[in-house]
Amino acid sequence: MDGDRFPPSLRKVITDVLKQQPEKKIMCGIVGGVSNTNVIPILIDGLERLEYRGYDSAGVAAVTPEGISCLRRLGKIEVLREALEENPMSALAGIVHTRWATHGKPSEKNAHPHVSQAAIAVVHNGIIENHVALRAVLREKAYEFSSDTDTEVIAHLVNEQWKGGGSLLSAVQNAVQELEGAYSIAVISKNDPENIVAVRMKSPLVIGIGKNGNFVASDVSALISITNQFVYLEDGDVADIYQAHFVVYDKTGKKVERPIKVSDLSPEDVSRGGFLHFMQKEIHEQPDAVSRVLDGRVKDGKVLIEEAFGNKAAKIFARTEAVQIIACGTSHYSSLVARYWMEMESLADIPCHVDVASEWRYRNPRLHSRTLYVFISQSGETADTLACLNMVKEGKPEAHTITICNVPESSMTREAELTFLTKAGAEIGVASTKAFTTQLAALMLLTLALGRTRGMTAKKEAEVIVSLLTVPEKLREALLLDGELRLLAPGFGKKEHALYLGRGSEYPIALEGSLKMKEISYIHAEGYPAGELKHGPLALVNEEMPVIAVAPNDVLVEKLQSNLKEVRARNGQLFIFASPDVKIDLDEGTTVIALPRVDELVAPIVYVVPLQLLAYHVAVARGNNVDQPRNLAKSVTVE
Ligand code: G6P
Repeated sequence: MDGDRFPPSLRKVITDVLKQQPEKKIMCGIVGGVSNTNVIPILIDGLERLEYRGYDSAGVAAVTPEGISCLRRLGKIEVLREALEENPMSALAGIVHTRWATHGKPSEKNAHPHVSQAAIAVVHNGIIENHVALRAVLREKAYEFSSDTDTEVIAHLVNEQWKGGGSLLSAVQNAVQELEGAYSIAVISKNDPENIVAVRMKSPLVIGIGKNGNFVASDVSALISITNQFVYLEDGDVADIYQAHFVVYDKTGKKVERPIKVSDLSPEDVSRGGFLHFMQKEIHEQPDAVSRVLDGRVKDGKVLIEEAFGNKAAKIFARTEAVQIIACGTSHYSSLVARYWMEMESLADIPCHVDVASEWRYRNPRLHSRTLYVFISQSGETADTLACLNMVKEGKPEAHTITICNVPESSMTREAELTFLTKAGAEIGVASTKAFTTQLAALMLLTLALGRTRGMTAKKEAEVIVSLLTVPEKLREALLLDGELRLLAPGFGKKEHALYLGRGSEYPIALEGSLKMKEISYIHAEGYPAGELKHGPLALVNEEMPVIAVAPNDVLVEKLQSNLKEVRARNGQLFIFASPDVKIDLDEGTTVIALPRVDELVAPIVYVVPLQLLAYHVAVARGNNVDQPRNLAKSVTVE
């Protein structure tokens, strides 16, 4: 923000405060709407469908005959529901929110909605970068702040505009001119009992067109039980929403028509369907999910490049000289597997770099016009990955970009030149499972598509496709290990540390297995390339340390065997997940879990499943919240 716009007395305050970090929030959930019946139960139901994002407090505000009513509670939506039973609220227009704080304590006063002078209420997802400076200006105008959040400035800014007369729409349009950062917001005013105004700026927001009203939400899953018709807002769009109609204005204030899209998500996709947890359901959905990745994208031993990657893809792949994959979390680990495939001489034989988005974006990477930049993301909204995509687009417009993504109409699918949709279906459990295996199948198709332009033989392509087509069945076999792994969980659940080892393309599987264990069981688990054991982690191995090894039947197995002997020599407890063809010296400290026999090349897609199941059962045995592990969010939409 330009300090010269403020009186001199304020400039020093502004300079000082600008040095402070704004509050950071990760993936709050927003639902809002206007209905011809009481909107509150609809909004709370919708909010519950966003629970998967992780949150620490929840709140609701609505326009009632008494003015703005607002109720906020620390903790789960259930607590808010109970509060609503004690203080019933009925209104046609309202907004609800779940907040997930990383800075600024989780507390009732910091929970959304934030209300300005009992006139304006706001919910917000994102981060207002200049909130400290705005706070100083608003204080000068006698606005009082009752929270530590950046969001409260939005409520006061809108109020300041609104007090001057005019509509809620124009107040919001003027107020957002002052904001810097990322924000999706929904706003109500005490004088407009049948209107909400919503804005999208670098943080997702959709309009859901229902029979009895119009709604907004952070994503379609919140509204899927009331509609399958959605309008995806663009950055800078302001939507003026009423029960029977809505109008969208772009960032210049011009009225625009955004297309109505029909979502193929069903209410069943966002329900647990008889499973105890979403994660459990999603682990078991993997055979079907991987089949969907391949359906219509391979035929007669060939990848159908146009069908899979779009009609520009063949040309782009033909001019590609190197691949740079960028992702976060589980998506980063699928990229690490892909690197083994991409660089194999018999497959794509192409230089492939893999980076974590938050690292890559800040090390001034040199951009190359003939590098294919691949962005992998379940959600398509992860802030760091998205920022890298935009960096490439701005820094090297002639370079080509592709996203492998699970969410249609997400920011990444809109920004990337090519999109490969993984079609895994809604993934609700915070710990990613089916997104990972579908990304792997997609990445193998990309490897083959690139390989075709670089001398890979048609025979090789056909062989790999035959192996890929066996994967859904092999995944079903891997799922049969469920009972055996459940029996291991109680013993495992007593441990505080675990070491995961793998070699070759099973090394990233060891990393992913250890990530699953950390995320949901809270056991400190580390993944290592088995060959690195002697270079440090062996010092940790004693009778208390379970060591999990992923041992496919490939050329590296003998070397892995000697690593495992080193573990046993230190009395480490060994759990070997191995193909039935691997010969293992058994003793009482070694447990072998026999994995399905599967072609080595595609084995990582199958061998991750038992590790997911182990982590799941250990988390259940420890009584943890499997779907919403502490401190984690499904999708990290701010840096
Ligand atoms: C969060 C989630 C992880 C996910 C990562 C990347 O940390 O908890 O499960 O792997 O974000 O998310 P993305 O949607 O970009 O794959």
